[in-house]
Amino acid sequence: MATKQSLLAASAACISLLLLLTLASSLTAFEFCDKGKDYPVRVSGVKMVPDLVIGGEPNFFTIYASTNKTITQGKLVSAITCGSFHVHSEAEDICTLTSCPATADFEVTHQLDMPSTDPNGAYAIRMEMFGENDEELSCISLGYNLTGGLGLELNITNLFIA
Ligand SMILES: *[C@@H]1O[C@H](CO)[C@@H](O)[C@H](O)[C@H]1NC(C)=O
Ligand SMILES: *[C@@H]1O[C@H](CO)[C@@H](O)[C@H](O)[C@H]1NC(C)=O
Ligand SMILES: *[C@@H]1O[C@H](CO)[C@@H](O)[C@H](O)[C@H]1NC(C)=O
Repeated sequence: MATKQSLLAASAACISLLLLLTLASSLTAFEFCDKGKDYPVRVSGVKMVPDLVIGGEPNFFTIYASTNKTITQGKLVSAITCGSFHVHSEAEDICTLTSCPATADFEVTHQLDMPSTDPNGAYAIRMEMFGENDEELSCISLGYNLTGGLGLELNITNLFIA
């Protein structure tokens, strides 16, 4: 049975979630992997919620896209790097990240989970969309800073010296 207190707690959680979403509603800067390419899926913006990547807490990257194709299958390949180091990559069925068939304007949301055991510092994520027959539909990348991870600032120079 829901007590008055738990209802209050739930509505407080909803209000802070709303505040979080409102505060984080601005778009994040991104780049196209190949700036000269006319990708079949055009990306107009990326939103990161929350706008800070905190170790051990999920982050959501929503890609705002449009296409004149009809996407019925495909995948999103995400790769995380720190400097020239490859940290993690994964491939997800695109139809689990958006509703298929996707056409015209659609959104793809990728969940990023950085473990709190990863060192704080500057990372980059590359998100590449593939359609049927592995056709490359789009590819973008953006940088972010990890906080709440291991307290040492990752310094590539130090790694080589060590
Ligand atoms: C579909 O999009 C591609 C790439 O953006 C473009 O080259 C092509 O002309 C478009 N086709 C139609 C029918 O709009
Ligand atoms: C990451 O942090 C550095 C140093 O504080 C800052 O210069 C840089 O703009 C930040 N990068 C992003 C993507 O926020
Ligand atoms: C990384 O470490 C090297 C050697 O200790 C130092 O010279 C350099 O300033 C450091 N870079 C940053 C970004 O802290």
